[in-house]
Amino acid sequence: MIVLESAVEFRAHCETLRQEGPLGLVPTMGFLHAGHVSLIDQARAQSRHVAVTIFVNPAQFGPREDLSRYPRDLQGDLAKCQAAGVAVAFAPTSNETLYPPGFQTYVEPGPLAAPLEGERRPGHFRGVCTVVAKLFTLSRADAAFFGEKDFQQLRVVQQMTTDLDLGTQIVPCPIVRESDGLAMSSRNAYLSADERKRAVSLSRGIGIAQALYATSERRPSFLIGAAMEPMRMADLRIDYVALADPNTLLPPETPQGNSRLLLAAFCGATRLIDNAPLEP
Ligand code: PAJ
Repeated sequence: MIVLESAVEFRAHCETLRQEGPLGLVPTMGFLHAGHVSLIDQARAQSRHVAVTIFVNPAQFGPREDLSRYPRDLQGDLAKCQAAGVAVAFAPTSNETLYPPGFQTYVEPGPLAAPLEGERRPGHFRGVCTVVAKLFTLSRADAAFFGEKDFQQLRVVQQMTTDLDLGTQIVPCPIVRESDGLAMSSRNAYLSADERKRAVSLSRGIGIAQALYATSERRPSFLIGAAMEPMRMADLRIDYVALADPNTLLPPETPQGNSRLLLAAFCGATRLIDNAPLEP
């Protein structure tokens, strides 16, 4: 595995790799866990070579968010990439590698980025789209692998790729969970032992809403209320619980099996998100 810090070198190396066959790209912010590794595995299964990027993208963090304390472990991440068969890891150590002095052009996503995370985190998806577009342009990857963990991000990136003719296929990958159901996340590292126990209430809420849907309950307020209950009991501060059409991300008129239940809540100071279709 080759590790690169420079964008010019990353571009050149991807060019070389692509001459041998399809290149798969897995963009990450590092502190890799089994969810990230599942994306790498899927990329390996579908590509000749895999590139992983490790960059805590400042453009997608709000002023009151956790940019400065975002967990990092570059050596551990590189070991995981190596073990997973990654060909090239692009890990810029300076923000100026991707945002040099004078940088001023951003990718502005449309209505898919407006509700849910977009409403709570103004500018977040603009930052995501900008860095992802840059990584696609540098790597010219044939396919890029994104987790359904960040369902709205996946949809926004799919739309951007279509709208801007970026020519990279977006491959959605399923959510990897801890044995108790908590969706894996780099931010889980923030949780105290007590918070970690209470954090399972997000996936519990999803399970309860899915069970209710299976009994033919179709009233959105009942499904949403049921999903909230475990988080209330566990003393989490709910940011939102919503049902969304998976294509438009707007509330469905009548919930369907593929309607997405999306949750965000604070467990202590840590903001957690999760989602699933009503019919698993
Ligand atoms: P990050 O949070 O590091 O996630 C990188 C990729 O891993 C994303 O596609 C995310 O959805 C996926 N992922 C995270 N946890 C997962 C889990 N439990 N199961 C499956 N996939 C999971 O998302 C970002 O970084 C950034 O916004 C990025 C796209 C890299 C742009 O900066």
